[in-house]
Amino acid sequence: MQPVLAFDVYGTLIDTQGVTEELERRLADGSRAQEFARRWREKQLEYSFRFGLMGAYVAFAECTRRALIFTDRALQTGLSDNDCDHLMTLYGELPAFDDVRPALAGLKEAGFRCVAFSNGTEEAVAGLLGRAGVSAYIDDWVSVDAIKRFKPDPAVYAYLRSRLDVRPEHTWLVSSNAFDVIGAKHAGLKSAWVRRRSDAPFDPWGIEPDMTVTDLESFSTRIMG
Ligand code: LAC
Repeated sequence: MQPVLAFDVYGTLIDTQGVTEELERRLADGSRAQEFARRWREKQLEYSFRFGLMGAYVAFAECTRRALIFTDRALQTGLSDNDCDHLMTLYGELPAFDDVRPALAGLKEAGFRCVAFSNGTEEAVAGLLGRAGVSAYIDDWVSVDAIKRFKPDPAVYAYLRSRLDVRPEHTWLVSSNAFDVIGAKHAGLKSAWVRRRSDAPFDPWGIEPDMTVTDLESFSTRIMG
């Protein structure tokens, strides 16, 4: 049986560093744009983990917005409300990585079922992938919002399985986020780690990905094997 492929969205299909150019324009010291984008993303994920631990839930976009305000405070960059609103709008229009369209097109042609699986709400992810020109290759969207938990809560991977209705050994989570790969493996799924940066370390938890690739085109070649 051909496996079903669930792709993480932010960082895997969509480039969260895509806000960097706008940050260069809006920050008084544009040289801090990359650092800002990285810390914003890290804080966004931290907030999702913390909401999860607290047993509380807000939409992922709210984690993103609060993380933006925090990062502005931490780096004392003095962004205005208007700057923040504009950056949040851009976050909904982030670009796909270059390898995404050719890889997904090849996988679709080969008959693979491809779904997007994200912390983002279905509406946010559908809009994002639509604007990035990727939705034509995606068969379905699965959002953690349906059960109000965040990755890597085992419940979200169980929910993914229930939505896909495929045995765990035929369900692949494809993600550039190591915590997501470990979460999926912990829940019994197969998982590929997309190591988009060659210096990205993997967490030393004794839980290894079934496959490590540098981009989605390599993943597509390997899974078609
Ligand atoms: C997502 C975040 C974790 O798309 O990247 O689910």
